[in-house]
Amino acid sequence: MKLPYAEPFRIKMVENIHQSTPEQRIEWLKDAHYNLFNLKSSQVFIDLLTDSGTGAMSDRQWGAMMTGDESYAGSKSFEQLHETVQNITGYPYLLPTHQGRAAENVLFSVLVKDGDIIPGNSHFDTTKGHIEIRKAHAVDCTVDEAFDIDDPHLFKGNIDLQKLENVYRSYPKEQIPFCLITITCNSSGGQPVSLENMKAVKELSDRYGIPIYFDSARFAENAYFIKKREKGQEHRSIKEIAKEAFSYGVGMTMSSKKDGLVNIGGFIALSDADIFKKASNFTIIFEGFITYGGMAGRDMAALAVGLNEATEYNYLESRIKQVEYLGKKLIEMGIPVQQPIGGHAVFIDALRFLPNIPREEYPAQTLANEIYKEAGIRTVEIGTLLADRDPETRENRYPKLELVRLAIPRRTYTNNHMDYIAAAVNNVYDRRDQITKGYKIIWESEILRHFTVQLEEI
Ligand code: F0G
Repeated sequence: MKLPYAEPFRIKMVENIHQSTPEQRIEWLKDAHYNLFNLKSSQVFIDLLTDSGTGAMSDRQWGAMMTGDESYAGSKSFEQLHETVQNITGYPYLLPTHQGRAAENVLFSVLVKDGDIIPGNSHFDTTKGHIEIRKAHAVDCTVDEAFDIDDPHLFKGNIDLQKLENVYRSYPKEQIPFCLITITCNSSGGQPVSLENMKAVKELSDRYGIPIYFDSARFAENAYFIKKREKGQEHRSIKEIAKEAFSYGVGMTMSSKKDGLVNIGGFIALSDADIFKKASNFTIIFEGFITYGGMAGRDMAALAVGLNEATEYNYLESRIKQVEYLGKKLIEMGIPVQQPIGGHAVFIDALRFLPNIPREEYPAQTLANEIYKEAGIRTVEIGTLLADRDPETRENRYPKLELVRLAIPRRTYTNNHMDYIAAAVNNVYDRRDQITKGYKIIWESEILRHFTVQLEEI
């Protein structure tokens, strides 16, 4: 008999989680103003809100925590992190930050000014927030295939070169400080960008004198997809592939809460000494001294180990196979999901799942709330609520896709949990015709509203 796949780790510590009744969940959801961010974690059985900072650390990482050096300046833990980041990215300069959006804040304080244009592939919401708060504009140049969930394109995170060149032709170089490549592309469904595409973007950008930066929260997952899917890459190690990717840019921001395999942290890595010096000043103002930037020494030590683990093939295989396991189950049940399945999450197409709910009533949020009511599973809307209003017209921005994201924390749940999730979604699918009403907003913030929005049933 052929031996089945099994994870390359065993579990050393467990955390109990608790079931609840449908009646309790209806009450809790109402108290939360129908916004799943407002739930207490004790009201959730399986938490798929995010894969950010919610994973399990390894024994090696916990061991490193004990050896953290808490010196304010020049700590050993910083040195370990610096060496690791340099090995993986090839960039000589490192600035730690407390998380990814803090890295964006520091770097964009140097690079982005009023009226600037920043092209990229479906910028993440905090990234877009940090661009728009500086009165600059993010222009999405993702390939069209990303917006057709049935299209089997293997690199739906790719940048469309024609769209990018149109941006480069439409604005003077001084107005385009950089092009941002997000790996993997979270907003298009955890979809990878190919090395070929990165190289082509670099060649095009060089012609216009525009540098490339990476938003690299899930760079290791991106490298895994390149190894599995891109011709000629199958024999290379994850670290070799990642290093080639970074060679096409001049710097990167990182949310270490994803492929750093830690619960909190971020950093900026750079190749340019001048930008590093300027960013150092903002790090000191916003984050802390340049050798800790808002992180404890022990957290930097755990991150140094985490970055090495996250770039091991065996770890990535177990990680991405689990996400694929859930995705395939949902596909077998006929549920419309973004295909191929992404690296960190399964994305359900709410417009097809709930065709009776008009877009003004937030179908993806409606579906996320139904999944919670069904089984205590917390997911997140990646749709109109998240897309915010147009900063000028204040009208809702309706994105091309209205998705519910089932983000899988790293090394945290078993495949029994995946089976439970699939059954719950299937039950909601079976009663989808009875779901005919969505929600209206009763309160929202001006920017990044989805975190705190309050809703009412229609
Ligand atoms: N860039 C990407 C692609 C992200 O997915 C995130 C966070 C960030 C930047 C910001 O990093 O949270 O450390 O400040 N994504 C989380 C998510 C929140 O749920 O997808 P952060």
